[in-house]
Parts: sequence; C-alpha cells; structure tokens
Amino acid sequence: MKRTIVAIACAIGCFCVGNAHNVNSQLPQKREKKEVKVGDSETKFVHELMQKMTLTEKIGQLSQYVGGTLLTGPQSGALSDSLFIRGMVGSILNVGGVDNLRKLQEKNMQLSRLKIPILFAFDVIHGYKTIFPTPLAESCTWDLDFMYETSKAAAIEASASGIHWTFAPMVDIARDPRWGRIVEGAGEDTYLACKIAEARVRGFQWNLGKPNSVYACAKHFVAYGAPQAGRDYAPVDISMSTLAEVYLPPFKACVDAGVKTFMSAFNSLNGVPATGNRWLMTNLLRNQWKFQGFVVSDWNAVQELKDHGVAATDEEASLLAFNAGVDMNMTDGLYNRCLEKALREGRVDIKAIDASVERILRAKYALGLFEDPYRFFDSKRERTEVRSNSAMTLARKVAASSMVLLKNSQSTLPLSKHTNRIALIGPLVNNRSEVMGSWKARGEDKDVVTVLEGIKNKLGSAVAINYVQGCDFLDPSTQEFSKAFEAAKQSDVVIAVVGEKALMSGESRSRAVLRLPGQQEALLDTLQKAGKPLVVVLMNGRPLCLEKVDKQADALLEAWFPGTQCGNAVADILFGDAVPAGKLTTSFPLSEGQIPNYYNYKRSGRPGDMPHSSTVRHIDVPNRNLYPFGYGLSYTKFSYGEIQCANEFNVDGTLQISVDVTNTGGYDGEEIVQLYVADKHASMVRPVKELKGFKKVFIPKGETVRVDFTLNARDLGFWNNEMQYVVEPGIFEIMVGSSSEDLQKKEAIWKGDK
Ligand code: GLC
Repeated sequence: MKRTIVAIACAIGCFCVGNAHNVNSQLPQKREKKEVKVGDSETKFVHELMQKMTLTEKIGQLSQYVGGTLLTGPQSGALSDSLFIRGMVGSILNVGGVDNLRKLQEKNMQLSRLKIPILFAFDVIHGYKTIFPTPLAESCTWDLDFMYETSKAAAIEASASGIHWTFAPMVDIARDPRWGRIVEGAGEDTYLACKIAEARVRGFQWNLGKPNSVYACAKHFVAYGAPQAGRDYAPVDISMSTLAEVYLPPFKACVDAGVKTFMSAFNSLNGVPATGNRWLMTNLLRNQWKFQGFVVSDWNAVQELKDHGVAATDEEASLLAFNAGVDMNMTDGLYNRCLEKALREGRVDIKAIDASVERILRAKYALGLFEDPYRFFDSKRERTEVRSNSAMTLARKVAASSMVLLKNSQSTLPLSKHTNRIALIGPLVNNRSEVMGSWKARGEDKDVVTVLEGIKNKLGSAVAINYVQGCDFLDPSTQEFSKAFEAAKQSDVVIAVVGEKALMSGESRSRAVLRLPGQQEALLDTLQKAGKPLVVVLMNGRPLCLEKVDKQADALLEAWFPGTQCGNAVADILFGDAVPAGKLTTSFPLSEGQIPNYYNYKRSGRPGDMPHSSTVRHIDVPNRNLYPFGYGLSYTKFSYGEIQCANEFNVDGTLQISVDVTNTGGYDGEEIVQLYVADKHASMVRPVKELKGFKKVFIPKGETVRVDFTLNARDLGFWNNEMQYVVEPGIFEIMVGSSSEDLQKKEAIWKGDK
C-alpha cells in the first residue's frame, strides 16, 4: 500500500500547481502584490472619507445599476436621479463610450453629496470594438502570449472608451458542450485553464493604476460550468474532490495573478447557492486564499436567492448574500433597499459593511478616480486607440491561430491562389454579425471582414466566385439548394461556411441537440453530390456532433467565431498564408448521449477496452469522441521520437522529460506538444490521464526540435473529499504526443521523499 503524504498545510491554498511549459510565453514577471500598509495615503484618504459617509451612502457604494438600455439579464432595478442624490450608486455597468460615461459621472458629481466617483464596468469578454475570437476559440491557440496580448488590447480599447472594469475572464471549466457558456471559457482541462486564466488577468490588468488598463473579474465563482444536463443556471452537484480538483483551481490562479474582483455565480453548489455561500466567499476566498479585492454578485443573483428557495424575502436574500461575502450587489438594488434596516436590527455588522465599503473605495482610489473622476474620459485616446491597426493585425493573427484543422483528406487544403472558380455556399459566408460570436461588447458589424470579402481580398478579381447562401440557420426552406448545386457543379472547389448563429451559444443558450442547425447538413449533402472538392468551414460556439459532416467534407476547418478579422483569417488559412496549428480544448462527441465526454475521465473497474462486452460503454455508439481533446491537424506532418526520461524521479521529486519532434512535411509549422501523466495506483480513483504540460514550438520543414519538460512529483497529487491535497509516491505513466489520443508512453517511479 502506498504511503500517503497529505499536504494538509496547503490543503486549501495551493490549487493551481504545475509550472508553465509554454516556450513562447513572455508574460511579464509577476508584479509583487502591493501590501497595503496602514497609514499610507490611500488608507488615510479612504478612512477619512468613510468618517464622513452616512450609512445610506456606505451601502450605496455596494450597489451597482445598469446605466443604459443594454440589458444582459432580466429587467432590474432602475437608475434614477434620486439614487444619485442620496449617494446610492457605487457602480454602473453596460455603458461604454467617453461621452456617455462622462455624462453619468458628471451627473453623479453634481447630484451626490460626497461626490464619490462611479466605477464603470462592462462585459469586455473577447474585445471591446476590435473583436477577437471567442475565448474558447482563443484557447485552441494554446498560446498564452496571444491571450495575454488580446486581453491587454481589449483593456486598452475599453479603458480608452471610459471603462474601468471588465467582467472577465470567465474561468469556468466546461465539460458539457450542451452548456451555452462553454464558448466563454478555456475548455475542459483545468491545467490549461489555469495558465490561460493567469494570462488573461495579467493582460487586462497589465498597467493597473493607469487609465489604459482595467480591473479584471474572475467569474463565475464557482462551478457554474457543471449544471445538470448542461442547462444554464441549473443546480450543480459535485464531490468536494471534483470541486477542488477541477473547478476551483482556475479561480485560485486568478487570485495568484492578482485579480482585483470576483463575481459570484448564479448556480447552487451542492445545495447552497454560490451567491449565498459563506464557505466559498469568505472561508475559502478571503480567509484561505487571502483575496484582497471585492466580490460582485451576478445580475439579480442576490434577489434570485428567493427563487432558489433559501430566502423568503428581499431582506433575507440581501442578508444571506452580504453575510456570505458578496460586497457589491449587481442590478436588483436589494442592498440599498434592505441592508440599512437589517443593520439597525443588528442582523448585519457595521464592521462588515465598512470592510466592504473600504474595498470598493480603495479600488476607486487605486485608479486615481478621486484625483480625477474623468481621467478615463479622453476623447482623443478614444479616437486613436480604438480599432487600431495593431489591434486589427493581432485579431487576424489570433483568429487564424485559433482555427483547428479537423480533416484534410488528399491534402485538399491549402487551396491554390490560382484557383479559377470557387463556389462559396452557406449562411455564414457573407455574414457580419454572427461571426463575432456572443458577448461582442461594442463590436460593430461594419468593421467585420466576411469570408466572402476575405477571399476577395486574398485572390483579387482573377478568381470567379459564385456565392449562394443556400439556406438559413433555422428556416426549413431548401429553395436555394438547386442554385447552390449548380454553383458547385460549375466550380473547381466548393467552400461551405456553416454553423451556429452567435446566440445559439452564450448565456441561456444551452442546446440538447448538437448537430448543425436547420437544413445545413442537407445543404452539404446537396453540395457533395456535385462531385467537387468540398471544404467545410465551421463557425460555432461549442463542440458539435459532426459525424455526418466529417463524412461529407473533404476538408473540415473549425473556425469558431473568429471576430472582426474573420474573413481575412479564414482566407489566410484556406490559401496557406497561415498554417493551421490550433488544437481542441474540448472533446467533440459522436453523440449527445456520450456527454459528459471529457478526456480526463476517472478509471473504472471495467475499462472500455476490455475484451468482453460488460465494460464502461454504450452499446449503440463507439467508445470514443469524434475529435479528442488536444487534437488538430497541420498542413505539415510531425513525427515524435522516443520519450527520453529516467525510470525514476530524482530525489527532489523532479523528472526531466525530452522528446525530439521532426517536421517531416512540406510546410514550416507549429506543433503543440502535450505532456500527460497518469497515476497508476493511488488511494483514490484517478483519471486515465491528465495534462501536465504543453509547449507550442515552431519547427521549420525538415528540421527537428528537442522539447523538454520538467515534472515535479508534487504536481501529481490530487484532492480528496476532505479538501486535502494528497501527494503519493508511486508509478506514473508519462505520455507525450500531439493530442490526448496520440501519445507515446513510458513509466517512471517516484519513491517519495527519503
Ligand atoms: C450576466 C452574466 C455575467 C455578466 C453579467 C453582466 O447575466 O452572467 O457573466 O458579466 O450578467 O452583464
């Protein structure tokens, strides 16, 4: 029996373990956390201000209202002059633009007694005006540098437009493609999601204190991505070890990266709504993780504690949320309406109120808003730093890098730039608004390059392009099929651009059937009959069930929702100016019935590959995904040498691993080399494999690169149901390869500390 070493000391603290393995990650060095010394100017200013504040004004700082007509939730508490006059507006969300925000700040400074500046927030999830690929798409670049840069670019644009604070990154692990918000995260793997969370927080907060960066927000705390049946907002019931091992680490990574705010989730967690969960918001986040920032609820989530059935009245709901540790109340106004009375009745402690108020005043002070409430409102910056050439160039590069080549039979791709006749078919060929995906902030259709435009930009007038929409997304009409068929017949190659509408994924957009919507599969059937090479470009927010599409297409490119530079990026890939390198960060199932279908599933007593029928499987679908986690093709080919590593971990618990990767194909290209580990025997059931490292390496054609990893046995521990991090010596399977299913294996033993 293995000796179990329970690292209780870090039982709750060290959630995100493992060292980054990204060769091209030049993330700036971590900034030392600014220790707040009592008596410094910030503390002095804030404490003196609080002395002047009435209870009403204090609670006002804990209240956030929608500032305009952009509702990202059900109708809610309305903003009014009277709230400004009574100093009851601490923050406003969903307004962007220097002029709009200046007006609101001026109103606040004119009407309120103490003239405490408003903090302005917006959902800048994947860009503000320059829209980058959706976060799930970007995660498929596995390029931390890119995700740092796109978050930084989004911060520069948003802050130039007056925004102080974004509700991003969304770091919910999503293992269920039915859940619409999978589009907003970094996929199904915790290790990768931790690295991406850190990159995004550092990107948004790249220059804190200056008016060209913004506060980030780790959301939605916690386990929002695990709703029953993938239905958004549904209850979450998971073991404490799964909570600790899968869902908490990316949030801890945000804390370690210095994130300034958190957002509580809508869902209940094991019977306790996150927004009323004191263990989560106070015991864990504040007391264990030492989070210094402030927590905002999600939209109306305080009031919704009544719908969860854990509060009978608004007052009970506001008390439950506030005493759980939610500092700021988004949109429903319950804190303003209920906390003062509760305080007078001794049901909430003024010290707790003061602590929350202080956190929010400090956040405003640190942005310099007390010195100059208008310092983010520079119209000249708004004109010059929004939609900049550098942002557009970055958007095009990242979009191409996020695309995943799923199939390329007979090397159909890349297409020749001298192709004479192209049939461009499908509802997403010439579409501006859908291709930005959900949460497109202030992205404008007019700035989008469609696929039709991108191909014309690339090939000029020499090529004959025959564009037929073919069908819509949900309209059952097939009246354009014959026209599409004719266009295909008369072409050298058919490019079909199909997929989902932007709002078929995102918030409250869960789907139970994951095939191409409407008549799109039938359209591909029709096109296939034309007998020409059929390239299918997919635009979708989540993994789909594509078994039929995979058979219909000669080449299949997952383009996700590429954002403003959509058409240029698609053309770069299709015509070979960019070589695809993206790899999936979510598994694509054969059928919805397989969900959850994530790659790092736990072992069972009857593994699926046993030579008899009574194993863990379905009898009507093969025991595999259509496309596995970590999968993606290139135009070139990579071959892996033998894994080089000792059979035993070093005494200090480390293990050096090397592998030679050779580019044997005809194109220079990038390969995302992945390192997985499996604990062969442990005191708890472990996953069949877990990602523990990755490196994205550029390899010129014909050349070989040696890729090195360092494993530390302490990173191979796991969390038990007592929320203890357990590290056990034993035999570990070391796996390296190009996807979670294409791996070489070797064993190494760790004999534990001497
Ligand atoms: C929404 C979302 C959250 C968003 C907030 C403000 O309901 O759940 O992600 O940041 O409200 O728009």
